[in-house]
Amino acid sequence: MKRPMDPSEEARRLESDAKEEILSAKSLEDLEAVRVKYLGRKGLLTGLLRKLGEAGPDERRELGRFLNAAKSALSAEIDARKAALKAARDEASLHEESVDITLPGRAREIGSRHPTIKMMREIMEVFLGMGFTSIEGPEIETEYNNFDALNTPEWHPSRDEHDSFYVADGLVLRTHTSPAQIRVMKSQPAPVRVIVPGRCHRRDTPDASHVISFYQVEGLYVDYEVSMADLKGTLAAFAREIFGTETRVRFRPHFFPFTEPSAELDISCLVCGGKGCRLCKNSGWVEVLGCGMVHPNVFRHAGYDPRSVTGFAFGMGVERLALLKYGIENMRVLYDNDLRFLKQFQGMHA
Ligand code: DAH
Repeated sequence: MKRPMDPSEEARRLESDAKEEILSAKSLEDLEAVRVKYLGRKGLLTGLLRKLGEAGPDERRELGRFLNAAKSALSAEIDARKAALKAARDEASLHEESVDITLPGRAREIGSRHPTIKMMREIMEVFLGMGFTSIEGPEIETEYNNFDALNTPEWHPSRDEHDSFYVADGLVLRTHTSPAQIRVMKSQPAPVRVIVPGRCHRRDTPDASHVISFYQVEGLYVDYEVSMADLKGTLAAFAREIFGTETRVRFRPHFFPFTEPSAELDISCLVCGGKGCRLCKNSGWVEVLGCGMVHPNVFRHAGYDPRSVTGFAFGMGVERLALLKYGIENMRVLYDNDLRFLKQFQGMHA
């Protein structure tokens, strides 16, 4: 008959097996598995401790002492091994994370403002510097604000020129920023001195100088004695600020329903200086913006008394000015998102 294994002998063997396995554990996970195997709740050594009750009193005392000693010895070994494995792991990751300061730096891609936005900010800066305040109006406008209140009734021919996108009955995507004039005058008494940057939309056929969505900057100055001379001085100063001090300006009579008198501002051609070239179609002048003295009907629609206030207004196409200022030939490149084009504006002012 085979004698059951001497419990103390079994305990000694367990201890030496466990020691060996602890030392050969290669990772913290391995080590944890060894701990569970021997010292866990269902572990081998724990099992022997549980079985102590079955042993005789003498044996129980001796074996008990041995098992408890083995248990704390193994725990200590596990802790030591754990510390060693952790140190090795930390060192490895430190090494991985270490920075080689001799490597060349990685250049970051730096973005830039879009030329249209850059142009718009330049325009705004000039007027903000003169004491104008910037406000915004909605892109979806009432037909009333976009046309009627601006003295452009249904039958008016200029309404056809602004072929509009209708959103719903009585609502259009604004064809210009001018309706903001009505909004601002309705919301506050004179004096008013505002600029309105924003997007406009027209059902134009896109070509080198037309897109269906574009930006405008509107201006409105209303006070008790605003004159045409104020308009000319303000806009001439603006043009020289944007296009250079050498720039000559002229105000050419024009028609807009919401101003009377109305004018277009031309500047001497930036390419030929006035001699005549392709850009200015040999005229020596290029058109920059529309302007005029606010029409009495506009004041009436906005709730101002045209007998007591006067004012001037102006509006300009931002893309158009960007083309002139940056010497861009085709408006479409502003919408192509070609990085080779856009990168040329990196680091430029505004
Ligand atoms: N709203 C006009 C347009 O879209 C531009 C304009 C002309 C605005 C004269 C004005 C102005 O305020 O007085 O073409």
